[in-house]
Amino acid sequence: MAGAAGNLARHRGDYGVDAPYAPMTLGGIALGMLIVSAILALAGSSLWVAFLIGGVWMALSTASFLYTTRAGKFAVWARLLRQLDLRGDERILDMGSGRGAVLMMAAKVVPRGRAIGLDLWKSADQSGNTLDAARRNADLEGVAQRVELVTGDMTAMPFEPDSFDLVLSALAIHNIANPDGRRKAIDEAFRVLKPGGRLQIADFRSTDGYASRLRELGAADVTERPLDWHHSYGGPWTATKLVSATKPAR
Ligand SMILES: C[S@@+](CC[C@H](N)C(=O)[O-])C[C@H]1O[C@@H](n2cnc3c(N)ncnc32)[C@H](O)[C@@H]1O
Repeated sequence: MAGAAGNLARHRGDYGVDAPYAPMTLGGIALGMLIVSAILALAGSSLWVAFLIGGVWMALSTASFLYTTRAGKFAVWARLLRQLDLRGDERILDMGSGRGAVLMMAAKVVPRGRAIGLDLWKSADQSGNTLDAARRNADLEGVAQRVELVTGDMTAMPFEPDSFDLVLSALAIHNIANPDGRRKAIDEAFRVLKPGGRLQIADFRSTDGYASRLRELGAADVTERPLDWHHSYGGPWTATKLVSATKPAR
């Protein structure tokens, strides 16, 4: 990616692998199918073709997942952050910020602002996911002065109402297992947003529910659209969606 967004996507930190068991499972299935295909071919069964196609499909899904988590999501979020055309003094919240892939980019676009990352640091949701790993990344990216890391739950955030100009969340809310918890996270995102503030949530499922809850809460300009294949975690057939909204000014 060329230009300003391309520069923003370049990073020095290490952001791990999202949901590390997912690519391990996809890769394991791919390998198993390719081995079975070879065995069936040697045994003279015509079923080897079906297993070969399945194995290649799963191998491509594994490669797509790893590409998104290590590079593609940086390119997509760099573009989204640039498109927001921020002044540079905003307070930004990243809900479920993990090791800080999106958080550190957000901090870079607000040289006079603050970027706050809230997380429970679950290693099942991102490899090596700790507050220390996020802090190290803030140092490596040269944004530690304006990044705050808060340990907390998205469903009950320790922030005052109307505190942030921009609330972001990338591939995090779906990790809350029950629909009631996901609804509470959306309510919280809207509660802490300042009037006139903007909200951007990327996720690979439940986005219809996020959008309709935001409409119920009175959000304006609620839209839901697929992000491109760089953010697809498993292939173009599993595109992540972006829900955007604003909180009406009083
Ligand atoms: C797949 S990771 C994505 C991290 C980061 N947004 C990124 O794009 O690199 C999902 C994150 O959500 C966090 N998380 C899951 N449930 C949470 C909750 N209830 N409250 C806060 N964070 C949560 C996990 O700890 C993890 O860091």
